[in-house]
Amino acid sequence: MTEFTLPSRLAAVRPEVGVILGSGLGGFADLLVDAVSCGFGEVEGLPSSGVPGHAGRLHFGSLGGVEVAVAQGRVHLYEGHTAREVAAMVRLFGELGVKTLLLTNAAGIVNANLKPGRWMLISDHLNLARQSPLTGGPEFVDQSDVYSLELRELLRAESLELTGTRLVEGVYAWVNGPEYETPAEVCMLRALGADAVGMSTVPEAIQGRALGMRIVGLSCLTNYGAGLSAAPLSHEEVMETGRAAAKDLFTLLESAIPAMVEI
Ligand code: HPA
Repeated sequence: MTEFTLPSRLAAVRPEVGVILGSGLGGFADLLVDAVSCGFGEVEGLPSSGVPGHAGRLHFGSLGGVEVAVAQGRVHLYEGHTAREVAAMVRLFGELGVKTLLLTNAAGIVNANLKPGRWMLISDHLNLARQSPLTGGPEFVDQSDVYSLELRELLRAESLELTGTRLVEGVYAWVNGPEYETPAEVCMLRALGADAVGMSTVPEAIQGRALGMRIVGLSCLTNYGAGLSAAPLSHEEVMETGRAAAKDLFTLLESAIPAMVEI
């Protein structure tokens, strides 16, 4: 018994790697060779997204000889979805055979040593939304190693080789949103050990881990958190910085995704 049904023209897809793209990163799907796609709404069982910048399309194609599924857009708690609904895409990927899950997002900077426009590899997370996609089932899943160490090492090495930049690592805090944080909240997040803050990714990582997937999380640091800079935050700024940083990520992933399935 499956939870999801793809449109019949996509019945033969067998992705090995699943990618979920955050704000402003949709162009990644254009790199896929022999791509086929559908809207989230065409997949029976998937909730659909209504946030600007989250187009809600699912693409399947090949990248360096590896079959990849790319979700362009995602749904969030702040749209009124449950954590289980938010993680539905990961369960769909699981049904299709995905073993490696790559999650990207836009995030605010909490650690003032980090720079806007750069990427941060997620080393661990704080579930401050206090919601779980596993609610309703007795899944006492180990969380000591959510973000694959071997894949992080691979991405750091690829980044250094391809772009000459050292990919920083840090802790991502998941909050409900949709409003951005207050300066006091940014101070609190830092005191709790966070380096960046955002409104996604964690439920998908928890779900992927429960399904035995290897997980990579990458945050595009789009802005300083409130209080760390004089500028007010806007969704437009977040989208624009995400788009500008997208090229670096695409260069990295084009070479890293084929390498990821080799290890
Ligand atoms: N806070 C929370 N989520 C975000 C931010 C932020 O500053 N920037 C992008 N997503």
